[in-house]
Amino acid sequence: MIAGKKVRLRPVEVRDLEFCQMLYNDPRIRQMVVGWDFPVSMAAQNKWFEASAGNTTNLRLLVESDEGEAIGITGLWDIDWHNRNAMTGVKLKYGGTEGKGYGRDTIMVMNAYAFFEVGLHRLWGLIIEYNIPSLKSYIEKSGWKVEGILRHHVFRNGTFHNVYYVACLKSDFLAVPDAVDYVPREIPDGMHRCRLEVFQEE
Ligand SMILES: CC(C)(COP(=O)(O)OP(=O)(O)OC[C@H]1O[C@@H](n2cnc3c(N)ncnc32)[C@H](O)[C@@H]1OP(=O)(O)O)[C@@H](O)C(=O)NCCC(=O)NCCS
Repeated sequence: MIAGKKVRLRPVEVRDLEFCQMLYNDPRIRQMVVGWDFPVSMAAQNKWFEASAGNTTNLRLLVESDEGEAIGITGLWDIDWHNRNAMTGVKLKYGGTEGKGYGRDTIMVMNAYAFFEVGLHRLWGLIIEYNIPSLKSYIEKSGWKVEGILRHHVFRNGTFHNVYYVACLKSDFLAVPDAVDYVPREIPDGMHRCRLEVFQEE
């Protein structure tokens, strides 16, 4: 369990697969994200789940509200262990979650996990130019930077749209005023002293 201020991240379980399918197939979400594929069946969703077990370059995490309700998916895609970077993204369900700070909290806690637990140095992503909630959550609120524009990179609703190539270095994340709240403490309270006492007894 990876805890933010408003959300928690945990592994995806079999019981979440219907929720994942709903999220993936929701046309409101599909038109906001860069990745595109045919709608997924439950059989395809199950296959995806089985294939994801033990995958060390792709991590999917379920986003839960603090009441324990499944509200979204986030993760790390294409982890490059040598260059210590990965792609990331978030999808939250529509209906009751919008504008409550869940998106920004998910991004911040995912950043902290990637930089301080996984050991990555850089995260990157793609945002369609009209996705204002995503631009606000990543760029205005979470330390991410626009690094470039991919012209006419996606085709949605019959039109080509530009896409922002965005990224966040560990140092960009740490420059966010409340980043420190998300950084895991290195050693639990009291442990330094315990260690010292053991050492002195020896
Ligand atoms: C993008 C997404 C994660 C944002 O989640 P959210 O929980 O609604 O966002 P937050 O409540 O954390 O809001 C973050 C900021 O964005 C702003 N924002 C959110 N929705 C907005 C909207 N529809 N219009 C304008 N601003 C919006 C918020 O006001 C807030 O800024 P503020 O603190 O100055 O008020 C969510 O909308 C989502 O999952 N969308 C569908 C999938 C998607 O687009 N994923 C990202 C792909 S790159």
